[in-house]
Amino acid sequence: MNFKNKYVLALDQGTTTSRAILFNHQGSIITLAQKAFQQYFPKPGWVEHDPNEIWYTQSSVIKEVMAKADVTDTHIACIGIANQRETTIIWDRETGFPVYNAIVWQDRRTADYCEELKSQGYAERIQQKTGLVIDAYFSATKIKWVLDNVKGVRERAERGELCFGTVDTWLVWKLTRGEKFITDITNASRTMLFNIRTQEWDKELLDLFTIPASMLPRVVGCSEVYCEASLPLFKKGIPVSGMAGDQQAALFGQLCVEEGMIKTTYGTGCFMIVNTGDKPVLSQNNLLTTIAWKLGDKVTYALEGSVFVGGAVVQWLRDGIGLIPNASITEQMAKSVSDNGGVYFVPALTGLGAPYWDQYARGAIIGITRGTTAAHLTRAALEGICYQVYDVLTAMENDIHAKPKEIRVDGGAIANNFLMQFQADISRCPVVRPQVLETTALGAAYLAGLAVNYWKDVDELKEQWCLDKVFSAQMKEEVARQQLAEWHKAVGRSQQWAVD
Ligand code: G3P
Repeated sequence: MNFKNKYVLALDQGTTTSRAILFNHQGSIITLAQKAFQQYFPKPGWVEHDPNEIWYTQSSVIKEVMAKADVTDTHIACIGIANQRETTIIWDRETGFPVYNAIVWQDRRTADYCEELKSQGYAERIQQKTGLVIDAYFSATKIKWVLDNVKGVRERAERGELCFGTVDTWLVWKLTRGEKFITDITNASRTMLFNIRTQEWDKELLDLFTIPASMLPRVVGCSEVYCEASLPLFKKGIPVSGMAGDQQAALFGQLCVEEGMIKTTYGTGCFMIVNTGDKPVLSQNNLLTTIAWKLGDKVTYALEGSVFVGGAVVQWLRDGIGLIPNASITEQMAKSVSDNGGVYFVPALTGLGAPYWDQYARGAIIGITRGTTAAHLTRAALEGICYQVYDVLTAMENDIHAKPKEIRVDGGAIANNFLMQFQADISRCPVVRPQVLETTALGAAYLAGLAVNYWKDVDELKEQWCLDKVFSAQMKEEVARQQLAEWHKAVGRSQQWAVD
């Protein structure tokens, strides 16, 4: 392929924004456009998006990024997609109209049902098949909720009239005007309906959750030409040739392609993933076994620790309670005090994910005194993000029986030097920040570009990874240990809070 003046368009459809980024052949960002969209919280613990708004924001940023870079479709070699995972959309096969809002991965409405499943003894069987812990996080119970609670939907689903998809499926459906109904294997592996060993939708689980198989998309690999995207602004179709859930895309974008390599993304949540090679490793420490990617016929597996609230806690400080005017001020505020003043903030705003998996935990701020300031609260919120990541790292070290050499980090929040330094201080492990922070989108671009020979192979990509900064522990180990003990005390107070 002639790369001259050609770019790869990556769509990064996240929990709070839809983004489009153009990358060049060196893996550098040419332009970026992003749009936030509405978050709906109809009841405590419920989180929804409007699927049409997801699409409108996504398609409008495609237009915007192309206009900004002054490029036309002829300059775009291919499109890669990375998306918020697990979020569940059900729509009419004929009209394309969603039957209900998207139920977002953070939504806890099916928590009681998940507890029932656990008490009925399904945990081990489900972990064996899907690699997952039973939790409202995953799509299966969300689909069942829509089928059981939205009038007429079950009948329509049984008549074969409805489609289920995670956001990747929805975007491809929209990009192809309803022609392609597919999901990539990494997204499939987050539904709790997909058998990661046989790599097929699992009949027994479909029966358990009473979900008609006809609703499910065809599962595809992460790097192949699936279809051509047609939008009014494209004169010709552009190949869509890469797809992965955003966290898996980030692992690929970080070039964590060797077994044992770890990345953590600091987005809405925090997601630590370790590449475990060609075999699924079942966690003994409450992590998830998941599919990292499928390239050709080769499947790579991973272990993941998902923290539900990471950057979202900063968003809450800003938009929820108006404590801070913007996210970037948090670094300065946290550094303006010498310590957290004894304040611990457990950001369990949507329960606790790995390694606690407590659907009924709720946020807790503890240790407040009359001397507590906004700076202490802000610092405690940032520290709370790092402590959660530390807990996942500990679980991971126990599962892989090794101390990682380094953690590669990405996501918007890693620009915050306080956050990165504190992470290194607590984790006692080098935290490695690359130059390109947008590794999720870059991973999607890489997957797409490999499929059309825009890039030759993974070795060529490896050469593109560039270091920005390594953060190493500076805090005394004893101090870190004391603070962790306090943190764990605080976590204990937040747990099971929402149980009646
Ligand atoms: O599993 C949920 C995850 O994919 C969401 O990612 O980047 O939107 O926080 P993000």
